[in-house]
Amino acid sequence: MTTTITVLGAGYVGLSTAALLAQAGFKVYLVEPNPSRLDTIKQGRSFFFEAGLDPIIKLGIDSGNLLPTDSYNIGVPESDFVFSCVGTPDNPDGSSNLAYVYDAAKSAAKLMKPGAVFIQKSTVPVGTGKKIIEKLGLEAGSYISNPEFLREGTALQDTLWFDRIVCGGSDESVLTRVAELYKALEAHRDTIATAAGIEIGSINGSYIATDLNSAELIKVTANAFLALKISFANSIAKLSDAVDADINGIMDAVGADKRIGRAFLNAGRGYGGGCFPKDVSGLISSGLEHGIDLEIMQAAQQVNESMPSYVIEKLKHQLGGNLSGKKIAVLGLAFKKGTSDTRKSPGVKIANLLNTFDVEVLAYDPQALEEAKQDLRRNVLLCTSIEEALVDCDAVVLATDWDELMSLPAQIFANHLNSGAVVIDAVNAYRNHIDLKNLGLDYIGIGR
Ligand code: UDX
Repeated sequence: MTTTITVLGAGYVGLSTAALLAQAGFKVYLVEPNPSRLDTIKQGRSFFFEAGLDPIIKLGIDSGNLLPTDSYNIGVPESDFVFSCVGTPDNPDGSSNLAYVYDAAKSAAKLMKPGAVFIQKSTVPVGTGKKIIEKLGLEAGSYISNPEFLREGTALQDTLWFDRIVCGGSDESVLTRVAELYKALEAHRDTIATAAGIEIGSINGSYIATDLNSAELIKVTANAFLALKISFANSIAKLSDAVDADINGIMDAVGADKRIGRAFLNAGRGYGGGCFPKDVSGLISSGLEHGIDLEIMQAAQQVNESMPSYVIEKLKHQLGGNLSGKKIAVLGLAFKKGTSDTRKSPGVKIANLLNTFDVEVLAYDPQALEEAKQDLRRNVLLCTSIEEALVDCDAVVLATDWDELMSLPAQIFANHLNSGAVVIDAVNAYRNHIDLKNLGLDYIGIGR
């Protein structure tokens, strides 16, 4: 008998998970209340940009294995597993708003058949699973925390070639059943990657079974630690600037120590996105709830918040101490390459901050223009090409590490910018900076 699954919420996690599980041969209902998003998915496409996702959504829809719907009543009653992947927006105080998480659990619990398993994939503060079980009077063993570690931009790759699958709960046999789903996906991963047009990976990850609270804490702790690494690198970058050292070289050498590792030590304009900022503040809130002051995470958060203005201060200094009357382009509005997501994006923050001075700001992104619109100040001019953004500018900020920006020939900058203009590389990854200098432009990075 075919295993039936319902995935609640078609965000980055839900849509990727549903499309992948459908490719592994499961019958997958995907519940999405937003009519325009639902309609796009039904047409075999994603409503956001994620490499490889469109082809497998299309295959899922065409095969009938992926069944998008706006109703819990269609799929949940016949499902063996219900994955909850609903959003957890920020509360004004930085904690997570769990209204969708509770609503989804409540609505699903009413409809689930006996023996069905509820799998929480949304990132929730530690203790949430236990509260849900208690509040809804659920069978404790049927509720599993299965945190998601996929990154936007590499969502399919990360899910198919995972470092670890974490399942937390109180019933070992249920934990094993959930692990079996991922093993089925693992068995099909080469074929799925080929269908998606993404690279075949090589990691053989591990399966970790643990208790509910630990699973919830593993997720936020992992993200908080990565955020900490970035803020640490950014703190050293500021010192590097002060003593004329090179942060990239420093972190290459520091990261060569296998105990430390090079990943997530890239200094620049700081981290953004739907996860790190929220998970750091969520962890701080969880700590406070239990009387633990996570000062180290508060420091990481403060450093991160300081980075966009640090970038602007450096730029101002380079422009002779005055931004007034300048024309400045910001290239890169997505919070990182490979995504159209602009949530908490440093590029957007930098553009908006520049716009609070007497500066004409032009902005460009290869994928994120539409999503950036809602967060950008009205006076920031959106451009549809790099060239359009650069014309007659006194400076340009590179704010996202898109390959097409990082490999842009220096001549393009020289052809369009004013002579002697400043190129500030806020992601420390522009590859042709020597050519820029040879063409008479001023190049600076962060901590370089
Ligand atoms: C993150 C986690 O990596 C992932 O495991 C989890 O499931 C969700 O949160 P994501 O938010 O998609 O993934 O992006 P990630 O690649 O981790 O980057 C987050 C931010 O940190 C980006 O703004 C990125 O530009 C920035 N970053 C990353 C740095 O500034 N320096 C680095 O060295 C690495």
